[in-house]
Amino acid sequence: MQTAVEQNPRASLFSTRGTTALLRIVRDKRTPQKEYASAADRLCHLLAEEALASIVSDDEVSDVETPCGRARMSGGRHVDTSNMCVVDIMRSGAILMEAVRKLAPDIKTAKILIQRDEATALPCLMYSKLPPNIADYHHVLLCDPMLATGGSACAAIDVLKLAGVAPEKILFANVISCPEGLRRVAEHAQEVRILTTAVDDHLDERKFIIPGLGDFGDRYYGTS
Ligand code: URA
Repeated sequence: MQTAVEQNPRASLFSTRGTTALLRIVRDKRTPQKEYASAADRLCHLLAEEALASIVSDDEVSDVETPCGRARMSGGRHVDTSNMCVVDIMRSGAILMEAVRKLAPDIKTAKILIQRDEATALPCLMYSKLPPNIADYHHVLLCDPMLATGGSACAAIDVLKLAGVAPEKILFANVISCPEGLRRVAEHAQEVRILTTAVDDHLDERKFIIPGLGDFGDRYYGTS
């Protein structure tokens, strides 16, 4: 179920009973690492399926021949993932990126590492590895499970734009977002679409999403 998000006209909330049940597990601070990682993988799998399905427009209605007749279908069209690139904003982006790659093993994969410069507090590009012809791909799926300030997302979008990617080709997928991050991406790159399974209340002074789930990567990798 996708619904509009008020802070960003290009953002959609993907919320089902499945995503809500898994969010309940990953949000709970008592969930041990093993169960957290399992629920996070399942949630990323649902998000990855929805992201791939929503890459193409649902406007077209077509018929599918079943063994028993003809089904009139709107949406659900096959996406040629060999013509797509998934981009992992390291490190937690890899968790969502791997969920995408399980569904689409022929998708091209790119990595971007952005770190906060301690002196300026600005996001700083440390590493990127993109396919040489990334501008030619039909769609680019940018992955980061937490959209907090939007600083890393905007820096990653800039890297993609610099490589020639048209921003309207980018779909940015995340598990939890917040109004501050959604607004920042809208201001910085209004053409970029966003798909998120939750829009939380706000950021705290440490730039954590409230209520959120804590540090997504630390809880997944056991590094907290
Ligand atoms: N990244 C996280 O993992 N959690 C937050 O709350 C914000 C950014």
